Amino acid sequence: MTIHFHEAVPFDLDESGSEYYQDAWIYDHDFHWYKLDAPFYRNMVGSIGGPVLEIGCGTGRLMVPWLKDGLNVTGVDLSEDMLERARQKIARLGKATAANATLIQKDMRRLRFRSQFNVAVCAFNTMMHLYTHKDISLFLRGVHRSLVTDGTFMFDVLNPDFRWLMRDPAKRWSRIRFKHPHYGTTYHYTTNHYYDAHDQIVYVYVYHEPVDEKDGPSYVLRFGHRIFFPQEMTYLLETHGFEVENLFGGFDGSDLELYSTTSVFICRRR
Ligand SMILES: C[S@@+](CC[C@H](N)C(=O)[O-])C[C@H]1O[C@@H](n2cnc3c(N)ncnc32)[C@H](O)[C@@H]1O
Repeated sequence: MTIHFHEAVPFDLDESGSEYYQDAWIYDHDFHWYKLDAPFYRNMVGSIGGPVLEIGCGTGRLMVPWLKDGLNVTGVDLSEDMLERARQKIARLGKATAANATLIQKDMRRLRFRSQFNVAVCAFNTMMHLYTHKDISLFLRGVHRSLVTDGTFMFDVLNPDFRWLMRDPAKRWSRIRFKHPHYGTTYHYTTNHYYDAHDQIVYVYVYHEPVDEKDGPSYVLRFGHRIFFPQEMTYLLETHGFEVENLFGGFDGSDLELYSTTSVFICRRR
């Protein structure tokens, strides 16, 4: 079998920065284990009440519990494949509950709501798909416009980890064997990445190689992540009309430290 393995190098982020989200089955399969954030956001959002805006709602992982709690939720995402999966999950909740959900295919840099939401959530590193100052500014202005005065904006991004960022881009990492949840093909899954320290962008490659040659060619899904430092993010928020009320180093409310994997921001819209 020909193995299409590349040393990770930068790629066009407009074209391929979100390529990874074109297969929602893989996304749900890859992250079925990730449940750390859901109780946190469920409690926080529940204590504030709707209407709720989820930006980058994906396959509805967080939206579904909020809808079950009786909240009115609008989910925005760029990927039609991810939204279709969310639609299917929401339909299974029954007509009355599903009526409280609105799904919109939209770029998060072009939000056009007006003071409609009490709370906006942008979970699980979604803001790391904002690559330039212009992207970040367009996004934060859109969130600000969407929220009522004193509304809450919550999100999490990865805390920079140089042990991971500095991995050799010519090697493969995270080798596992898995079966595609929908098509049944068994793949070897590996990743590598390249970190551009100037632009603070990590270019990630996710390789899928069928174990059996007859199952078709290997393929690569890529994504880019903008790395944000906590004080840089705080400055961006403050200059776009938000006050940071809390900055945690995890969903247990712990302090942000050097080895915290996640930065969780709770902000007030001024
Ligand atoms: C890591 S996933 C998070 C999905 C969901 N919030 C969750 O927690 O499972 C990031 C999501 O952001 C979406 N996304 C990436 N770039 C976007 C953009 N420019 N506008 C809107 N959504 C975007 C992707 O399609 C994907 O569904």
